[in-house]
Parts: sequence; C-alpha cells; structure tokens
Amino acid sequence: MCGIVGYVGKGEAQGFLLSGLKRLEYRGYDSAGIVTIAEDGTATLIRAKGKIANLEEKLAKSRRSDKIGIGHTRWATHGEPSEENAHPHKAGDIYLVHNGIIENYKELKKTLTEHKFESETDSEVLAALVNSFYKDGKYPLVNAVVQALKLVQGTYGIAVVSSKNPEEIVVARSGSPLVIGIGNDETLIASDASALVGHTKRAIYLNDGEVARLTKNSIEVKTLNSEPVSAKVEEIETNLAAIQKGGYEHFLLKEIVEQPNSLKETLRGRVNVENGTVHLGGPGLTEAELRKIKHLIIVGCGTAYHAGLLAGYYIEQFTPEITIETVIASEYRYRSAYIPKDAVALIVSQSGETADTLACLREIKKQGIKTIGIVNAIGSTIAREVDGGTYVHVGPEISVASTKAFTSQAIAMVMFGLTIAQAKGVKPGVLRPYVEEIAKLPEEIGKVLSGVQPEVEEIAKKYADYDHAIYLGRDTAYPTAMEGALKLKEISYVDANAYAFGELKHGPLALVDDRFFELALLPKGALYDKAISNVQEVLARGGHVIAVTNVADFDMPVEGVVKITTDIEMFAPVLMNLVSQLFAYYMTIAKGYNVDQPRNLAKSVTVE
Ligand code: F6R
Repeated sequence: MCGIVGYVGKGEAQGFLLSGLKRLEYRGYDSAGIVTIAEDGTATLIRAKGKIANLEEKLAKSRRSDKIGIGHTRWATHGEPSEENAHPHKAGDIYLVHNGIIENYKELKKTLTEHKFESETDSEVLAALVNSFYKDGKYPLVNAVVQALKLVQGTYGIAVVSSKNPEEIVVARSGSPLVIGIGNDETLIASDASALVGHTKRAIYLNDGEVARLTKNSIEVKTLNSEPVSAKVEEIETNLAAIQKGGYEHFLLKEIVEQPNSLKETLRGRVNVENGTVHLGGPGLTEAELRKIKHLIIVGCGTAYHAGLLAGYYIEQFTPEITIETVIASEYRYRSAYIPKDAVALIVSQSGETADTLACLREIKKQGIKTIGIVNAIGSTIAREVDGGTYVHVGPEISVASTKAFTSQAIAMVMFGLTIAQAKGVKPGVLRPYVEEIAKLPEEIGKVLSGVQPEVEEIAKKYADYDHAIYLGRDTAYPTAMEGALKLKEISYVDANAYAFGELKHGPLALVDDRFFELALLPKGALYDKAISNVQEVLARGGHVIAVTNVADFDMPVEGVVKITTDIEMFAPVLMNLVSQLFAYYMTIAKGYNVDQPRNLAKSVTVE
C-alpha cells in the first residue's frame, strides 16, 4: 500500500527520497511523487503515474540539491491512479503526503471553500485543512497540523513540509505506521523501516495519536493534546542483504528458497528435542493461565488466515478440551460473536499492520480477552499492541505473495498449541512426535526444495495456458490447498479455488472439464484412501489431475506427479505447500506476469 519517505539534513534529499521509494515499491503502488524545497523556499514538486522509473525519468531533468523533502508511493483509494491524484498534495505553502483514509473528507471539503481542489483525493482535503490553520506561516506548522488532525476522522500517517520554513518536517500517525530514523545531522522518515536500512540503525516508532516536529538534529514528539512524549529509540535489526534479491531473479523465489533458514529462525531456542518440549517466552502466560485456556480464536487475513486454519487442525489433535475457531479478520470485526472469558486470541500477521486484523485485536482486547501476536515485522503496530507474542523472525518478506511467513506462522502457532498442551499435562509421548517433526522440518524443507524444483517448473510450464484450477485436499491438506490456490490466483491470475475432497460431490465436481486442471494434495495418512477415491471420481470425468504426494508407490494415471521423499508424516502438507509455492512461481514466469508485484495488490493492507 502507500509509502511515505522524508528527509531533512545535511545531504541531498532527492537521493534518499528516490532510493527510499524504491525500497517501498514492494508494498504495491500505482503512482509516485516527491517534493523538495530549496533554502530560498523554491519547491520542486514532481509526480508521475505508474512505476517509480517514470518519476526517476522526470527527476533526472530536475536534479536539485535541496536538503529537505518528502515523497510518496500511492495505492489508489479515492480517485484513479493519475498524476493529479498522486502525492505530495499542495495547498498554499503546504505540501503533504498521506497514508490511510480520511473518512469525513467530504464534509471537511465543503468547509474549505478557499482552496481550489485539483485532485479527487481525501489527502488533498487534509493538505487544505492544514493550510487553513497555517495562515501563510503565521502559526507554527506543527500547531496547524494538530488543529487539522483534531477535526479528522479516519486513519493517517502523514508528513508535511512548508516552503515558508524549509527546515522542518511535521509527521503524525493514527493507524498508519511512521518511523523516524535518527542520523548524523539528518533525520529521515519512512512508513516502513526497510527504507531506512543502510542509512541509520536508530529509530523512533511513532505511536497512534502522536505528532512530531523534525529538523536535521532535533525530534520533538508530543500527543495531539500537546503533552510531550519521551520517545523510545529502538534499533532497526534488518540488514541490507535481507532486503536485496541476493542473486535471485525475483524476491519470491529467494523467499521460497530461504525457508529452511527462516523456519530455523522461528524455532531457534524454542524447541528442545531431547525433552520433546517447546518453550515460547513471548506470550507471557503463566502455566496456570495456559491450563485455563478452553478456546482459541485465531484471527488473520489471506495467507495468515490459512496458516491459522492449518495450525488449528494440528492443535486440536493434541490439545484436550479446547475449541478452535479460525476467523477472517474483515468479517470477525463486524460479527457479534461471543468470546468466552477462558479464551485466548492469536492475532496473526506478517506485516503487523493489516487494518482489519488490527481492528479485531482492539475489539478483542476491549472484551478483556488475552491477545497473543504471531507477527513477523518487529516493532509493528500489532506487535506493540498485543498482550504478548511470538515473533516468527523470518526476516523481511518483500514479494507481495506471502511464502516463508506462512510456513513459520503455522508452525509458531502449533508450538503455541504444544505449550498449552504441555501445561495441561498431555502425556509427553503424545507431544514428542510433533516436536521431533517440527525440529526436522527446516532440513526437510531444504531437501524438498532442491529435489522438486525442476519437475515443478516443467509441469507449471505445461499448464501455463490454463486459466482455471481446482486445488484439493482433506484434513491438514485442505487449508494447505486453500493457500496453494491463493498463491496461484494472486500472481498467475488463474481462477484457482480450493475444496475439501469431500465437498467435490456437493457441487464443484460439475466444473471438471478441459478448461480446468486439478492439483491434488495427497499426503499419507488415515484419509489417504478416501482422497484417492475422490481423485478417481475426477479422473472418471476427464479431469486433468496433478498429484502431489509422499506415497512412494503412488501410481494413478494422472497427468503429472510430484513425489516428495521425506520421513516427515504429520507435517507433510507443509512440505507440499512448497510445491504449490514453486508451481505458482513458475506458472507466473511462464505466463509472463510480474512475479513480485502482482496487479491490484499491496503487500501491507493498511486500509480497510
Ligand atoms: C497472500 C498475502 C496476503 C496476506 C494478507 C495478510 O500471499 O500475502 O493474503 O497474507 O494480506 O497480511 P499480513 O500477514 O501482513 O497481515
């Protein structure tokens, strides 16, 4: 989604702004813009529709050595992607960039009769509102921003500069992240710490309801009620290598291949194979509190939701007297669901900024229910607002399609389930096999990835002309099939849907014809034979079946088979998901689409 960068300091602003916007490209956007202001107050505003390369081309003709500026990548909400709708927006001497949505912009706009609006955006309304309080610089910019924000309903992360005072940037946040980077005689801002990596390691994460006035060597943070805030300086842990492609053609492939290591990071210090136990420090629940848990609510969106569904299937296998409900955040936030007091909620989010998930977290907290974050992005809003949490530690995920986060989210949640089961006194013999398989998973993931890649690539190429797919699985392979279908649909634009095998006869079987192929996940286990019968039914109707299985002597007359060689049994679906990830990757390459930045999508969905 939208990205913000800003710079005030001894160096040239344009350079940082452009490189910062490039770092934020992965979040998804459809236009971009930069304004810099010279010491004499001359502002250079450059905006372009489409890729940052278009902005860069325009900038090359207007190089400036100005020492202050702000920039933005826009993901359209109000008004189509166009140069006029791109940020920064100008009102009088004010330039403003905005992430989020101003809900009461129509009412506010009616009152701003002196401003001639040039865009259809809610953000320009905010710029005009700030300007109406700024009164040509008669009032301090920070006061004008505060006055304006007091009238605003909605979410925002903003950065504002004025050509009247080219020495300060004012930033504020409510529901949309902003990080302030502290440099030597320079202060940088970004909506995502990855833009600051390589420039500084010291950062202040602004909280909701805070506003800050920044100069090259000062940072004053206060609340909208003018109470001073002594902001905590934190360390940015990400290194440059983690946000670069590192020799891979695409971030997606890098992130798929990284999984042996990223899962190792999730498990580090948390698994004791000898004792057959796991230990998670982050949730901060006592043994007595863990024992009392009777309900788990798992909340997430998209891939995080699928990870929750998968984890739920496992947790109920070994945790007695517990009910598990995995819910889609955008639905749950408006449901009137009753949450029993002996429940705990797992809030699952890679970015830690997803608006719907965050809204659920706040609602659930209001009901007095303990919330535990299963989050990747360190310092993100969800990570900061949950009562306790387990970071998955997979490092930055840059490609829009989530891959390594899924694997680690699912396993981190299973480990949380194991923690509850341990506290509830489940026999070690029941839990040990899960712990042992989890400990082996990173290595097994490595083996599967290097084993299957060539054949998955070949099969994906063969099916590249298809626009319809059905993913099938049952039990733990069912949420895995859902995740596989999501991956294919979001990057290959194939109309892929997942069904539980048992549901086929209740409707989806009618779809089987030459326009569809079926990807069947067939792990060994109690339900294998039943799933095989379902595959027979598809084949009998002329289906084009690709099977993914860990059954060595699988010999059905399907069109393609990917065999996984592993002694992992319970978590075989997690390994099969790697095949789905690679399949989606190679299919997208074969179709010629943008792998890392699929159309219409954004990495971090910070608006509802
Ligand atoms: C799919 C994908 C999305 C995200 C979803 C939640 O590949 O990336 O479905 O999983 O938007 O995002 P987070 O985990 O950041 O809350």
